[in-house]
Amino acid sequence: MTQPVGIALLGAGNVGGGVLQALERGADRYAARVGRPLEVRRVLVRDTSRKRTGLARRVITDSLDVVLEDDAVRIVVEVMGGEQPAFEHIRRALESGRHVVTANKEVMAKHGGELLRCASAHSVRLLYEASVGGGIPIISPLSRDLLANEITGVTAIINGTTNFMLTAMAQQGSDYADVLAEAQRLGYAEPDPTADVEGIDASYKLAILCGLAFHVDVTPTDVMRAGITGLTARDFRYARELGYAIKLLASGRLIDGELVATVQPAFVALSEPLARVDGVLNAVQVEGDLVGRVLFEGPGAGPMPTASAVLADVLDVARDLVAGRPPAENIAYRRVRVRPASKVTSRFYMRVTVADQAGVLARIATILGKQDISIASVIQFETDPDAGTAELVITTHATPGGKLEAAVRQIQALPVVNEVGNVLPMVGG
Ligand SMILES: NC(=O)c1ccc[n+]([C@@H]2O[C@H](COP(=O)([O-])OP(=O)(O)OC[C@H]3O[C@@H](n4cnc5c(N)ncnc54)[C@H](OP(=O)(O)O)[C@@H]3O)[C@@H](O)[C@H]2O)c1
Repeated sequence: MTQPVGIALLGAGNVGGGVLQALERGADRYAARVGRPLEVRRVLVRDTSRKRTGLARRVITDSLDVVLEDDAVRIVVEVMGGEQPAFEHIRRALESGRHVVTANKEVMAKHGGELLRCASAHSVRLLYEASVGGGIPIISPLSRDLLANEITGVTAIINGTTNFMLTAMAQQGSDYADVLAEAQRLGYAEPDPTADVEGIDASYKLAILCGLAFHVDVTPTDVMRAGITGLTARDFRYARELGYAIKLLASGRLIDGELVATVQPAFVALSEPLARVDGVLNAVQVEGDLVGRVLFEGPGAGPMPTASAVLADVLDVARDLVAGRPPAENIAYRRVRVRPASKVTSRFYMRVTVADQAGVLARIATILGKQDISIASVIQFETDPDAGTAELVITTHATPGGKLEAAVRQIQALPVVNEVGNVLPMVGG
């Protein structure tokens, strides 16, 4: 009988379970595509006493040594998550001459450069399609299909939890706390939602995308990050009236050789395709000098969509193994300077609650004018006669973030200003 290609899974949770199910269901198809059957030889878990349907007890272990001592294991699939021990496990698997497929954005964002160099040094492959955008093919297109392009920008919605919440806020007019509770009830948000709502998860994925798109070393600390916790139902109402959606946008660009990578809530013009990516869907828009704009959209999470991405990598490696093809060298990344937020130019939306009296707007306009900030529009949206206040929504023409920040500080200090609410960048339109 043909010798199978041995696989070990590190983790058998949501994604690992999906991978195991798909491997069972598609066994004949995969054997035909690879030229040999795939065999799950070991599955590493934390709790070996738990019964796991469809898994023979003899394959289950809690020891990486047991996995690596099995010479028939040629591909290690890391779907356990978290930084440690996943990072160490991946490194040891590569050093032992195993090809590795991972879905781990945190490890790839923080240690991807080192691990890719380790893979090259040991003549094995490290593939990570599932680490960004779940089932959406994006790592492979950036590494292969778009390689002839100078990528000028990557703009993405890459966190399903927050996109679900922002869509609900826009459609239901609900406040942040209510949609978070709903997302938690439906299982879209974790009991501790920090990594999603503060943009941490998205910053990991953006760091990976920027590395691939621009061939530069990017870590999550290079990404400027703001979360969605301060958004209010009023911001969504004003956005709609101005013709915008509010999205947690992950955006990467190289400007004059400096990296600008941001994850932040932004006004996105309704004419932009990304404005219409709703619910738990993810999308990544790539701009290249040859191809123009391309959009990849689809399910950003879930056991089976993620298994689709994990298994695509497994099949790719397995086909190379069977054909005896050596791995291609990884493209070397270079270090890059990060442009400070103060120098990044954008149009902005600003919500200001002021005393409802004559001359207030003139004072705000003077401050903006002194910073060379040109106003695009001012709308007085609401007044509260009891409090004697009015709400001004100001949009600006493109201006550096530093100038706007200085102006906001001065506006906030005006006695006629109660509060400067959210200040958000505007994209498109
Ligand atoms: N869920 C998604 O839709 C999705 C989408 C894209 C990417 N990802 C990524 O895929 C990875 C896995 O996510 P998941 O949702 O499948 O996680 P999960 O459901 O929590 O499963 C984690 C699995 O890893 C095992 N594990 C965790 N820590 C371990 C340790 N220290 N030693 C041994 N085994 C350990 C667990 O063992 P026990 O079973 O014994 O607890 C469990 O089987 C993460 O990197 C995640 O970011 C997930």
